[in-house]
Amino acid sequence: MYFGVDYYPEHWVYPYSGAPEHPESRWERDIALMVSAGVNVVRMGEFAWGLYEREEGKYDFEWMRRAMDLFGKARIKVVLGTPTAAPPIWLAHKHPEILPIDERGVRKHEGTRRAYCLNSDVYWGYSQKIVRALAEALGKHPQLIAWQIDNGLGGHGTEASFNEETKRDWHAWLKAKYETVDRFNDLVGSRFWGQVVTSFEHVPMPRHAPTLHNPALIIDWMRFSSDTLVAYARMQTNLLHELTPGVPVTQNLRALTRDFDHFDMAETMDFVSLDSNAAIRSKSAELAAEIDIVRSLKKQNIRTPDSDAGFWVIEQKAGHVDWQEVNSAVRPGVVRLFTYQLISRGASGLLYFLWRQPRIGSEQFYGGVLTHDGRGENRAYLEIKQIGQELKQLAPALKDTKVVAEACILFSHENDWDFKFNPKLNKHFHLREHIQLFYNALHDRNILVDFARPTEDLSKYKIVFAPSLRLLAGGEADLLKLYVQNGGTLVCTCHTGLVDEHHIAPDTGFPLDMTDLFGLEVLEFDPLPPGEENHLMIKGQFTTTALHPARLWCDIIEAKGCQILGTYSKDFYAGRPAITMNNYGDGRAIYIGTVSHQPFYHDLVVWLRGLVGLFPLLKVPDTVEVSMRQKDHRKIYFLLNHQHTPVRISFFKPMHDFLTGDAVSGNRPRQMLKFNPGFIPPRGAPRLKAGERVLAEWRGVNLTPQAGAQRNTGKALADIMPKVLMGLRMERRQAEAEIVRVWNHLIDPKVTAHAQPTGINKGTLFVRVDSDVWRDEIVRYRRREILERLQHSFGSEMIARISFRVG
Ligand code: GAL
Repeated sequence: MYFGVDYYPEHWVYPYSGAPEHPESRWERDIALMVSAGVNVVRMGEFAWGLYEREEGKYDFEWMRRAMDLFGKARIKVVLGTPTAAPPIWLAHKHPEILPIDERGVRKHEGTRRAYCLNSDVYWGYSQKIVRALAEALGKHPQLIAWQIDNGLGGHGTEASFNEETKRDWHAWLKAKYETVDRFNDLVGSRFWGQVVTSFEHVPMPRHAPTLHNPALIIDWMRFSSDTLVAYARMQTNLLHELTPGVPVTQNLRALTRDFDHFDMAETMDFVSLDSNAAIRSKSAELAAEIDIVRSLKKQNIRTPDSDAGFWVIEQKAGHVDWQEVNSAVRPGVVRLFTYQLISRGASGLLYFLWRQPRIGSEQFYGGVLTHDGRGENRAYLEIKQIGQELKQLAPALKDTKVVAEACILFSHENDWDFKFNPKLNKHFHLREHIQLFYNALHDRNILVDFARPTEDLSKYKIVFAPSLRLLAGGEADLLKLYVQNGGTLVCTCHTGLVDEHHIAPDTGFPLDMTDLFGLEVLEFDPLPPGEENHLMIKGQFTTTALHPARLWCDIIEAKGCQILGTYSKDFYAGRPAITMNNYGDGRAIYIGTVSHQPFYHDLVVWLRGLVGLFPLLKVPDTVEVSMRQKDHRKIYFLLNHQHTPVRISFFKPMHDFLTGDAVSGNRPRQMLKFNPGFIPPRGAPRLKAGERVLAEWRGVNLTPQAGAQRNTGKALADIMPKVLMGLRMERRQAEAEIVRVWNHLIDPKVTAHAQPTGINKGTLFVRVDSDVWRDEIVRYRRREILERLQHSFGSEMIARISFRVG
């Protein structure tokens, strides 16, 4: 397991350390202290461009090579950042056009990191040059085990800029997506307020304006900006893969906090890394959610430096930050506690930010592993040294283990953007808080959770929660139905399916395309101001521990065949359903038309647990957080005591404590768990994907660089358009025609006489079958063969699964 620190050797040279005759001598002392703390990896260089290239074209990577050589002697490996997060000052002077312009038309200036526009060809060109020069100079260094791209892309409102080049790319993006201006006008709904355009060049960027921009345009703008960031990252990854094929590439992400699609971004990396403030915020369920989110961004094709599963934490705060109102000292044991929380939820590499408090710069007083004095006698160093020693002991047991979750929460960035940037009927409703209510309830019952976007294959989960997917593509609704039809349990809530992917409200009732799934229709909404409540009358199915309120939002529901589990108790919709369940195919769809307080979600999860057969990992007191990593039948439990005093735990199976080496017997329960985490396993117990190209060609869109979009930077249109491609995938007509042709040609006529494809969306082919008998016959005996044949022709990206429906 990799364990380490973020190190800035450039800070620790004379005159800030060392001596004139031996300016870099401090590095040796640092390395000695690292070795004694068990450090075996460092991340370096992500802001060093201005030092690598003080003058244009005059590179100096030698100082970094010397640092890496020294690490080599100590057998410490290195992750190098590409330094593009902080362009040098000379570049802004030579090319002021790279500086970003904000929505009011004001240019932001150089002098900090991130002063660039990601649609600038010039910036792309310079980025490529420095990345290439760095990879050529240090890419073959034996210590190098991974690259980090840039640093925490986005943030501080830098996800989008409003430069002329941005406008040019925006128009190219829209053209590729809509093809004709008429289509653009129709799908974006620009006839509202008469904002139709006669040419793509007239489509506005959503700049500062007297009032609201069209919501569909806003969502497209967010998709475009996200595509731009993802394309920029992909450009760097591709370059590094070409220059240093054996070295995996990562990026440091924060859990869904930036305004780009983190799932798309994760696809550009070999493994995902997290920036964690774990020591700062101490709400364990919120931190756990962040970890689970980041782990979930990349579930397959993971390539870490030691081929282990999981993700890395490339910055865990070793102490306090400086951006809160009051930045109190981090209490003893807290960094260790949260380090184990990160590991318990799947981290397979962990580095602290930062090795030593810098004597210079704007992050001078951040907590570091070492304090400014650099002596290595301080509290944080000693705590981290203890962790380093423990991890050496634990690493062999952890190797290749991973978190396996049976519950999943859906999250879609487009939906999140819709809540964040478009008008909503209740400003007090916050999607993230709503999601957290469900997450807390699962977390507090020690049930492991993954996050996913609605387009993922959900079949491995026993239960899926989809809180408030207000913007829901028709294809996504189909996939949710498929999941339930095949036996899954789906829980959706108020605000589901109010608009489709074009931000058009359905005229077939809410929730969009899913009234049959839930056996109901939402007729009206009643958003409530804070402090005003309705009440829920629960009807026997699950036991309640309290009276539960209905807050913020009440869907006024008409049941159309569903079972009613709870009703509202007052107002003109008293007695109307608030909570319902509907059997659909082999599964059940549960609808909760309102928001309640946390105890409701705890009760709900207890009930659902029984309904779908989800078992908590261990029975422990409430203040103990449990997580588990497993490999085959070997299960490793982590018990984190979040309270300051010891707690007693009973184990009903023989356990082994990896930290102390003790056997913990089931016959002698009441083991003491101290403030520190225990670690207890039961012994012996158990570039364009093929499909995208095909579809795009069917739609007549040429995804090789187009006239106008082709740049000398090689920024192909396809690179900036994962979301467009997704949009194209939504456009099924031509694909369907081709599939029907192949279907009739390739599949046994006995089957084709009874079953015909009706549509394709995001990897799922929908097939209508004329009777239950034939559906069962095909699903049981022929599905695999049919799938293989179609995949042979279309690829498994294009047809990942088939949904057979009777109708
Ligand atoms: C991170 C960033 C670091 C540092 C840190 C401070 O997001 O990557 O460079 O600024 O925040 O908390």
